[in-house]
Amino acid sequence: MNPYFPTLFSPCKIGNVTIKNRICKAPQTTGLSHMDGSVSSRLVRCYEDLARGEVGMIIVEYAFVDRKYSKSASNQLGICDDEYIVGLGWLADTIKNLGSVPCIQIEHCGRQRFLGPPMKSASPNPWPLMYERYGRAAIPEELTIDEIHQLVEDFGRAALRAKTAGFQVVEIHGAHGYLITNFLSPFTNQRRDWYGGSRENRFRFLEQVFTRCKEYVGEDFPIIVRLSGTDYEPGGMTIDDTIYYAQRLEQLGCAAIDVSGGDHHQMIHQVTPMQLDRGHNVWAAEAIKKVVKIPVFATGSITQPDFAEEILASGKADFISMGRPLLADPYWAKKAQEGHPEDISPCIRCNEGCLDRGNHLGKSINCTMNPTLGFEDALAIRPADKVRKVAVVGGGPAGLKAADTAALRGHEVTLFEKRALGGWLHEASYPDFKADIRDALRYLVTQVNKHGVTVVEKEATAADLAGFDAVIVATGTTPAGLPVPGADRPNVTLAVDALKEGGVRPTGQVVVVGGGLIGVETAVLFSRQPDTQVTILEMLPQIMNGCSDCDKIVYGGWIQENGVQVFTSSKVVSIGEEGVTFEQRSRRGTVPADHVFLATGMKPNQALYEELLAQGVMVYNVGDSQAPGKIYDAVHSGYKAGLKV
Ligand SMILES: Cc1cc2nc3c(=O)[nH]c(=O)nc-3n(C[C@H](O)[C@H](O)[C@H](O)COP(=O)(O)O)c2cc1C
Ligand code: SF4
Repeated sequence: MNPYFPTLFSPCKIGNVTIKNRICKAPQTTGLSHMDGSVSSRLVRCYEDLARGEVGMIIVEYAFVDRKYSKSASNQLGICDDEYIVGLGWLADTIKNLGSVPCIQIEHCGRQRFLGPPMKSASPNPWPLMYERYGRAAIPEELTIDEIHQLVEDFGRAALRAKTAGFQVVEIHGAHGYLITNFLSPFTNQRRDWYGGSRENRFRFLEQVFTRCKEYVGEDFPIIVRLSGTDYEPGGMTIDDTIYYAQRLEQLGCAAIDVSGGDHHQMIHQVTPMQLDRGHNVWAAEAIKKVVKIPVFATGSITQPDFAEEILASGKADFISMGRPLLADPYWAKKAQEGHPEDISPCIRCNEGCLDRGNHLGKSINCTMNPTLGFEDALAIRPADKVRKVAVVGGGPAGLKAADTAALRGHEVTLFEKRALGGWLHEASYPDFKADIRDALRYLVTQVNKHGVTVVEKEATAADLAGFDAVIVATGTTPAGLPVPGADRPNVTLAVDALKEGGVRPTGQVVVVGGGLIGVETAVLFSRQPDTQVTILEMLPQIMNGCSDCDKIVYGGWIQENGVQVFTSSKVVSIGEEGVTFEQRSRRGTVPADHVFLATGMKPNQALYEELLAQGVMVYNVGDSQAPGKIYDAVHSGYKAGLKV
């Protein structure tokens, strides 16, 4: 029995296949396949780490089942033809050879086709994202009965290809707003034939797909199904619907139910960002587990091993299916198994790398916390050719990552920090709705302490750095302030100074100048306190520029809920007794203000870097002092400097 997480590391069966522990890699499209959907060496390399990392079962990302309309995204994996079996076999064997069970998800995208029109769906109602982009062309065509029959066959053949290739389990994608959910949910199914209307009718397509897959692979071969507990759509699929579907699937011989939630329109319920609760869809897994005997997977925002253990031990689910946490650290399971959860590079649910700079740009997957994702060999840590004395100035995320990476390569590293290690991560993680960032802070600090970095509490000058072979400057930023009359009044504070214990706690009329990420977070933080009325003044035509898609959805909702007033295209011209005066196009207005918070951007601190450069020192500038950015930019630039030095 594992002494640290006994339930998480106990074996369990799916059908007749034994899984060595309760950790499954949730399917996540990586964009690492070739353009035609065939397996690439980059894809295999990425999965190799997961298998080495002791994941019990790896559910390989969704694979499209036909050559017509099922493919959702660029460089998506394919399983639509027998010629794909060679590559799929390479992938399945790699996973199996390293001790994990290979499973693959088979999928048709339905109306959610990132590649754009044409789309096919249960009924002709469009996916809002594509409708905004393509208008009427994005209205999906309703599948004919003949086309439905063909797709049932396509799914069956795809399942057989998976088995032939060596996968030991197949997962049918019946969640997240793709074709099968287009049938299951009344939100997207308005058919009047025997595939629409009643629950039983809406289930018919999945029933036929499942049955045909079973016919192709045989009774003994386990097929599991991923379902959304609910799609969170108005008039959509309820948990009672999903309970019915799960029970019917069990009767048909389904080996397990993988319970997720949401669709791409309601993506915050599927890829829950840090502002929402952890384990966001565990309630649905628990509800389904109560009514079926087959194993049930809980998925979504289960980032830490103790939480995973608690879900399993309390009987809410039989397996934990993890996506983003295993992108942030493919060795998550191994580290937990060995009793070192503090070494897990944590997923902070920022969706910055995996979605905003990955899938959503039509690019392959990235991760804020794991710069090697997709570049496992090219960016691997290798011993330095020559051991150097390296100074890192600044202990924010960029400096911490640079110091740790350089130390892991064998350099003698000294890290100078004038404040607490972590830099702006302290302010960034201050609101409870951003508590996940505290995990990143803890992890980065733990790693430099473990890897022999000498920490000096001091603001380093060029003279302090004279004896070093190389210097990495990570001196961060300074708030830009606001050059207008009245900005020095006692009721005017920098927003970042409010984001700390003992910071200003305003009441009454609060004005936040600047509607970027810091401004909006400050505004929503204070708008949730009693006795405040918050206003945001933003110079640009819209707020939340550069924020992640999920941040925009969550904060947009909170701004409305809490009655925050927003003035865009509004330039502040003065602050006085009567409040904050601004110009909006040709008019002037004044908002009364008891407190004013400035969130007007950050300026990079580059003086030390320039001084060292002029002296001919081997120097690298990383993180915000290079260019103000996000945690992603800091971690990645710090890591790359640590590799170079
Ligand atoms: C980049 C990315 C790709 C995804 N691709 C798939 C997919 O191919 N199939 C699927 O069922 N879910 C997909 N998902 C959803 C995940 O499997 C998972 O349900 C979601 O990320 C929430 O779990 P987590 O908090 O453990 O990441 C994807 C999510 C992300 C972030
Ligand atoms: S980019 Fe952010 S949300 Fe995505 S896996 Fe990495 S840390 Fe998690």
